Amino acid sequence: MSLATRDEELRELMDDPDCDPERLAATLHRFAVVNRLVSGWGRVYRSALRPHLVGLGRPARVLDLGCGGGDLVARLAGLARADGLDVEWTGVDPDPRAHEVAARWAAPGIRFRAVDAAVLVAEGERFDAVVSNHVLHHLGAELPAFAAASRALSTGPVLHSDIERGRLAYALYTVGITPFAGGTFLRTDGLRSIRRSFRAEELAAAIAAGEVRDPADAPSPWRIDRPAPFRLLARSVGHA
Ligand SMILES: C[S@@+](CC[C@H](N)C(=O)[O-])C[C@H]1O[C@@H](n2cnc3c(N)ncnc32)[C@H](O)[C@@H]1O
Repeated sequence: MSLATRDEELRELMDDPDCDPERLAATLHRFAVVNRLVSGWGRVYRSALRPHLVGLGRPARVLDLGCGGGDLVARLAGLARADGLDVEWTGVDPDPRAHEVAARWAAPGIRFRAVDAAVLVAEGERFDAVVSNHVLHHLGAELPAFAAASRALSTGPVLHSDIERGRLAYALYTVGITPFAGGTFLRTDGLRSIRRSFRAEELAAAIAAGEVRDPADAPSPWRIDRPAPFRLLARSVGHA
C-alpha cells in the first residue's frame, strides 16, 4: 500500500447507511477521546479562536460544520466558558445518526441540527466563526462547495482542521488506536481516513477550487498551516 497519492475511492465503514448502528454509535461516542488526543484543537482555540472571540467584546455565535458526535462543540464551549466568554455554539451534521449522538451534549448555549451548510446559507445564517474537524478528507467533489459555504456563513475566522496523510501518521495510528478501537469502526475508518486525507499542497489546491477569483490570478483566500504533528489547518476569513 502506498500513501504517495490520496485514495479518494476508499469508503469509510461509518458512511454506509446500513452499517451496524451499535458500532456506529460507539464510534461517534469514542471520537471524543480520539479527538482530544490527536486533533490539536486546544492549540487552535488558544491561537486563533479565542483571540477573535475576545476581540469581539460581545456575545458571539460559533458553528461546527459536520460536528459528528458533537464532542468538539462541547469541548470548545467548555474552554470558552472557562475563559469567561459568552458564546452560543451550533453543531450541524446532515447525518441523522450523528445528530442523535451529538444531541446528548445539548445544553443552554449549545444546540445541534441535522442539516448541512447549504441549508444554513439558504436560511441566511451568519456566525462569528466557523470550524470543522475531520470533514475535509471525508468529502469528494463536494469539497469546494463545502469550503465556499463555510466562508459564506462566517463574518470572521474559518478553521478546518484535518489529518495530514503520511507514513508516520499511519504507523502511529495503527498502534495507538488499539486500546480505543474495541466495538467501533475507529481502526478501519481511521486508517482509511489517513489514506483519504490530503498533504498540504494538495489541500491548498482542492479547497480553493470553488472560489471565484477576481482577477483570476488573485491570491487564494485559503492558507494551510500545520498547527500540530500530523495536522493540517485550512484557514480563511469569511465574507458573510
Ligand atoms: C469523520 S466525521 C467527523 C465528525 C466530527 N467532526 C469529529 O471530528 O469527530 C465526518 C462528518 O462529516 C459529516 N459530513 C459529511 N459531508 C458533510 C457536509 N457536506 N456538510 C457537513 N457535514 C458533512 C458526516 O456526516 C460526518 O459526521
